[in-house]
Amino acid sequence: MAQGQSASQKTSANTAVPNDLEAFFMPFTANRAFKARPRLIARAKDMHYYTPEGRPVLDAAAGLWCTNAGHNRGPIVEAIQKQAAELDFAPTFQFGHPRAFELASRIAALAPADLDHVFFCNSGSEAADTAMKMALAYWVAKGQGQRTRFIGRERGYHGVGFGGMSVGGLPNNRKAFGPMLPGVDHLPHTYNREQQAFSKGEPEWGAHLADELERLVGLHGDSTIAAVIVEPMAGSTAVLPSPKGYLPRLRAICDKYGILLIFDEVITGFGRLGHAFAAERYGVVPDMITFAKGITSGSVPMGGVICRTGIHDAFMTGPEHVVEFFHGYTYSAHPLACAAGLAALDLYREEELFARSKKIEPFWYDAAMTLKGLPRVLDVRCVGLTAAVDLASRPDAVGKLGFEAMERGFHDEGIMFRIVGDSIAVTPPLIVSESQIGEIFDKIGRIIKALA
Ligand SMILES: Cc1ncc(COP(=O)(O)O)c(C=O)c1O
Repeated sequence: MAQGQSASQKTSANTAVPNDLEAFFMPFTANRAFKARPRLIARAKDMHYYTPEGRPVLDAAAGLWCTNAGHNRGPIVEAIQKQAAELDFAPTFQFGHPRAFELASRIAALAPADLDHVFFCNSGSEAADTAMKMALAYWVAKGQGQRTRFIGRERGYHGVGFGGMSVGGLPNNRKAFGPMLPGVDHLPHTYNREQQAFSKGEPEWGAHLADELERLVGLHGDSTIAAVIVEPMAGSTAVLPSPKGYLPRLRAICDKYGILLIFDEVITGFGRLGHAFAAERYGVVPDMITFAKGITSGSVPMGGVICRTGIHDAFMTGPEHVVEFFHGYTYSAHPLACAAGLAALDLYREEELFARSKKIEPFWYDAAMTLKGLPRVLDVRCVGLTAAVDLASRPDAVGKLGFEAMERGFHDEGIMFRIVGDSIAVTPPLIVSESQIGEIFDKIGRIIKALA
């Protein structure tokens, strides 16, 4: 602190409006529109963000689907502070620190069946690429190195690395970036408005779409496919819940042909669908689960892959002094992330937040469906503590309504949500109260009515 500067001056300096917004090339943002009318956030607590002027903004997005325990929760903040003072960094290549092992054990204990081994990275994108590399190397170790193909799904999102982008199925995330990984094909997405509009929870229609995997196996050969990767609920495309029976059917086909099944649980992990992992909700055991976001309740970047014992053990051969999996990141299992992860898991357990999210689901669904019948509303979908509203686009400006809704939400109604084109996605922290759920859908209803 500069000499003579008081604590309150320092606080306001930290939250002051910057006078130059140019240098920051913002990710996944309409940069020019943002800089013309910024949506700045200076601090947060529990269910709210606060602008630099101190105006509260209800967080109906859990940041980016990540602050599941709410913002700036005391135990997580304290754990990070304590860890920073004790051990800033330790390599996890050939060395290790205790909290990394403790956190891996805690995550493995939460995961179903023999998903017992955890590989750490720093984001969901890295988790997707790590899982794909683990699948390829696993097949080499098993003497089936010809299994190199991956099957993703249309409208899927697995981050922005070249692996995750290749198996992803959102056209805007792909079309400017060249030919992608070779050997990737896609299942059809599972959305059909005529069959599924205004479903509460998993739609009845659509399990048969898993059978498309049979067609792809027929096309590519049953021994060339390394893995299928899907999200149990496709979030980034504005909430597409899995149809009833879809995931068990996909598992059965993977089993039939010996294909690995990867669940990307970067969003669905840590309570979003009422369980530690959505795999449990659907009674399906994948071969790998990718996670990120909620593991630290968004407080410190962390991601990872949980794999089944058979996959892990396939690597544990050869001379013992030799590295088994030539993969990892400098910040894999960073001490601050591990401390934050352990504190977040404690909080989830103490406050029974996964069970709470499950319990509140019917109330959430009913609240979301109050938007049905409003002008322009084509569909409302919800599963777990997530919901999305599709609005009829203006024919000459697709995405403009969504953008206006977001601006109006932030500046006029004091609410933050995600937009995907002209869809609004809502995914609050799991601590959201019933009255705040009411507030979320009241505000969104008003915003929708106000859109011209
Ligand atoms: C299902 C899924 N996978 C991967 C990612 C990428 O995560 P990150 O942005 O941490 O790289 C996301 C991010 O939203 C996601 O929703």
